[in-house]
Amino acid sequence: MLRLSGFVLAFFWLLASLALASPGSKVPSSYDVSKYSTSFLGGAIIDINQTQTPGKAPEFPAIGNVSADWNVPWMKAPTDADLSNPGNRHTMAQWIGILGNTCDNKNWSPFIQAGTAIDMDENGTTTAYAWIEWFPAASHNIPREVFAVSPGDQVRMITNVYTRTTGHVYMENLVTGQQHERDVTADSPQNPEFLICLGYGTAQFFVEWVIADDREEVPVFNNVTFTNVGAVDRHGNHFNFSVGADYWNMIDANRPVALPEDIDRTSFVVYSPGGNTWTGNELRTDT
Ligand SMILES: *[C@@H]1O[C@H](CO)[C@@H](O)[C@H](O)[C@H]1NC(C)=O
Ligand SMILES: *[C@@H]1O[C@H](CO)[C@@H](O)[C@H](O)[C@H]1NC(C)=O
Ligand SMILES: *[C@@H]1O[C@H](CO)[C@@H](O)[C@H](O)[C@H]1NC(C)=O
Ligand SMILES: *[C@@H]1O[C@H](CO)[C@@H](O)[C@H](O)[C@H]1NC(C)=O
Ligand SMILES: *[C@@H]1O[C@H](CO)[C@@H](O)[C@H](O)[C@H]1NC(C)=O
Repeated sequence: MLRLSGFVLAFFWLLASLALASPGSKVPSSYDVSKYSTSFLGGAIIDINQTQTPGKAPEFPAIGNVSADWNVPWMKAPTDADLSNPGNRHTMAQWIGILGNTCDNKNWSPFIQAGTAIDMDENGTTTAYAWIEWFPAASHNIPREVFAVSPGDQVRMITNVYTRTTGHVYMENLVTGQQHERDVTADSPQNPEFLICLGYGTAQFFVEWVIADDREEVPVFNNVTFTNVGAVDRHGNHFNFSVGADYWNMIDANRPVALPEDIDRTSFVVYSPGGNTWTGNELRTDT
């Protein structure tokens, strides 16, 4: 719980240990998924086993790379929300990440993430930016001059893990054609808490809310559709939602906030129950 408040105050894009999630009821699905719920994450994961040479301890995390495309959404505050109060404005991230699960300390969950995030300003306008994070360090926002995203854009992101402390991130704005890529090193590579763990890996595809004080009146967002979802293990084997998939519901104050729904083996949607018919189209400036 300490981590959750750290997250709210410091804007860490955090995946707390999987243990924080409570198993939800199993829902009927063609892809044998089970749903988990958390108060701040909604999305999907693919668990991938560590493959190892018999008699040889694995040296590198199970997953080598994870990729997906998604649309950067808009959000819309409740009509009576007082947006001059920053507590009524919220931030929501869309991201992919790579996690290893057999950590020396069960409280550790180092992982690499890359994504977009949307903010709301005092006038209810949605703004967006891209970021990279090597948890447990805070995120590094990408300056707009380096890589610009806006609500309504479609992005592609690829994260790679080379070693337990090094990786790479590629991002492309599929609307503007702008690309940005960089090698990434854990912020504190000497600290064991930053070494991506071995054991089975988890490819992550999430929408995450920074919900400030008011947990009832969160804005709605238009559907975020993840497509071309995939992961590659250390030996070059490709994975999608056909094996090892799980979907996570975001439930806050007993109220569904962001719900995933599978589309097919390489795509799914995360929707806001109050906004699932809203397209944000009236806010488009690019048409
Ligand atoms: C992963 O490993 C677990 C435990 O060894 C096994 O039950 C499961 O079938 C494996 N999954 C795949 C996709 O190989
Ligand atoms: C919000 O709108 C007011 C009035 O048009 C303007 O003065 C202000 O700069 C706007 N705020 C932002 C963050 O754009
Ligand atoms: C993903 O991983 C595979 C296997 O390690 C590698 O061959 C491929 O180049 C990687 N793809 C990207 C886009 O990084
Ligand atoms: C999903 O993964 C399975 C198993 O690796 C593969 O056979 C299938 O072609 C993949 N589907 C797509 C649409 O990539
Ligand atoms: C958003 O996704 C939900 C769940 O799949 C769907 O019912 C709804 O029609 C979608 N909304 C739009 C505007 O496409």
